[in-house]
Amino acid sequence: MHTTLKNKTTLVTGVSSGIGREIAQLLAARGARVFGTARDPKSAKPIHGVEIVRMDVTDDASVNEAVQSIVGRTGPIQHLVNNAGYATSGALEETSIDEARQQFETNFFGVLRVTSAVLPGMRQTGHGRIVNISSVVGFLPAPYMGMYAASKHAVEGYTETLDHEVRRFGVRAILVQPAYTKSKINGNSRSAKVALEVYATERKRLNNVVEEGVEHGDDPCIVAEAVWKGLTAKSPLLRYPVGKGVALSRLRRFVPAGMFDRSLRKQFQLD
Ligand SMILES: NC(=O)c1ccc[n+]([C@@H]2O[C@H](COP(=O)([O-])OP(=O)(O)OC[C@H]3O[C@@H](n4cnc5c(N)ncnc54)[C@H](OP(=O)(O)O)[C@@H]3O)[C@@H](O)[C@H]2O)c1
Repeated sequence: MHTTLKNKTTLVTGVSSGIGREIAQLLAARGARVFGTARDPKSAKPIHGVEIVRMDVTDDASVNEAVQSIVGRTGPIQHLVNNAGYATSGALEETSIDEARQQFETNFFGVLRVTSAVLPGMRQTGHGRIVNISSVVGFLPAPYMGMYAASKHAVEGYTETLDHEVRRFGVRAILVQPAYTKSKINGNSRSAKVALEVYATERKRLNNVVEEGVEHGDDPCIVAEAVWKGLTAKSPLLRYPVGKGVALSRLRRFVPAGMFDRSLRKQFQLD
């Protein structure tokens, strides 16, 4: 059983490319009143039925200004999709504290910041859905993208906890877990500035595996469909693994840890 999106005020972060763009487009086409964010709205390509607002999820003032301007026009935001994010590549030993902080500032504190700005309105109206775009690396390790994996693990723990706290107000928090998905994520990723020779060969190999994975990855429209399910299901699930993520999620739960460890190292061609 599904509920309708008709005219529901919906905020999607990071719609200038990739998965966010696809989510905004699909939700608007299915009747939601969609506001999509970009850090530079002028350079974001228009999306039919979507109003683009400026928002940098790492900046309190920018988040509050964007949320207030939407609420001023439509009343409380009913649906939020926290999609904005990027990946940091590099061995953990190569990643500086500052680079780790920046990664969390967008992928984790960004989610926290936008959610906290939107929640009071959801509580007051007694209805809301918050979908956080996690990743398979929210439940799997990601060698040479460890800080990215840590930020998504944080989003997982946050979302599961939030769902317990806000359910009595009619608000649900949901995770969508894509696997490799075609987008600009590789081009937008940041590399650790320190490059240690001891990691060079393996890092290069891993980067190639990830680049290939995204290039031949799932179509972002299947992620958008999972978001739609989470927003409209009468009783939403906590987690929606997507595409190749469905099999990985099952393997993680049912395959013995040692066997899983060996197969992951083989897949990533680790020495
Ligand atoms: N592609 C994959 O394989 C994959 C797999 C699993 C999960 N994901 C997740 O899916 C989400 C979307 O990524 P994508 O693959 O679509 O990558 P993408 O094409 O690079 O899009 C990332 C979006 O995030 C926005 N963004 C980045 N930093 C931001 C900030 N500080 N404030 C506001 N917006 C910001 C960008 O907008 P502007 O630069 O225009 O502001 C852009 O629209 C991310 O959370 C990512 O971790 C992706």
